[in-house]
Amino acid sequence: MAVGILLVGGFGTRLKPLTSESPKPMLPVAGLPVTEHQILAAQKAGIHTLVLATSYLSEVFTPYFGDGSRWGMKILYAVEKAPLGTGGAIRNAAQMLNLENLGDEPIVVFNGDVLSRHSIADQINFHQSKKADATLHLIEVEDARAFGCVPTDSDGRVTAFLEKMDNPITNSINAGCYVFQSSVLNRIPLGEVVSIERETFPALVESGRPVYGYKEQAYWLDVGTPAALFKGSRDLIADDFHAMPGCAIDASATITGKSSLGSNVTIGADVQIDDCIIGDNVTIGDGARLSHCFIFHNTVISAGVSQSRHYLSSAISEPINLP
Ligand code: GTP
Repeated sequence: MAVGILLVGGFGTRLKPLTSESPKPMLPVAGLPVTEHQILAAQKAGIHTLVLATSYLSEVFTPYFGDGSRWGMKILYAVEKAPLGTGGAIRNAAQMLNLENLGDEPIVVFNGDVLSRHSIADQINFHQSKKADATLHLIEVEDARAFGCVPTDSDGRVTAFLEKMDNPITNSINAGCYVFQSSVLNRIPLGEVVSIERETFPALVESGRPVYGYKEQAYWLDVGTPAALFKGSRDLIADDFHAMPGCAIDASATITGKSSLGSNVTIGADVQIDDCIIGDNVTIGDGARLSHCFIFHNTVISAGVSQSRHYLSSAISEPINLP
């Protein structure tokens, strides 16, 4: 059994314009918000209480996830008036978990923009077997130059946190899922902007505390950019497309490229859709052609519209180019 904190309060600037109306973790991949995929993984690992650490567009989360009973867990919400950074957000959210009563029960923290099939339960077991203060999921990437890297010794103990460099000494990078002892979170200052990656972890290692790296190479993707979000959605779809319940698709429409349709989407006659992410309650008029487009929830696309690589939403008058 464990409790969890899901970090979902960032601005998601690299994902603009997709994050102009939705926080990054609520963007749909294969019909469900990124956050929901993570909640399903947390549920599998036996997490019974989860705090969503929100800030940017915080009001979007509660109507969707409610008290968490649909997922068989208790979901609570911590709101930062202004973003406190990853460490500050964890400390703020931890207040809702009654740290003093947790004892040895581990706290699992998730970056809210990661799709990972690694075993959280095995990460928790590893953490407990090492009697660690903190254990990070580490993933090996082919080219670590774009990331900070995390070297470990032969026992898996983290020896340093290194910033991006041209010749990384290891290809192991922080995969954004951590297991903590509650005593560690208690030491993060409350109400201050703190980075868990740049401040808390390096300080723990420098002071000789036991910080471990749990290495697992299961499917992992950071959906922090538009290209990665589309890839994440495609990776979850086995057929030409995936449609959530309530969709009405005209028999003459062609849907390809592992497109994803949210719930209650209506697709008209002779529509062609390729490699698109379509939100809930979208209507696409007859003869429209859409390729590599992101269509926000509740949008109506007129008949005959032809668009490629654009963000389309009822809230904007002109489609915006996707980078
Ligand atoms: P970029 O602006 O594109 O870098 O995205 P981001 O703002 O989401 O930042 P980043 O990818 O570094 O964040 C990793 C995770 O932490 C994401 O799930 C963010 O939602 C979350 N996060 C980042 N900063 C904060 C914060 O200040 N408060 C909270 N609650 N979450 C945060």
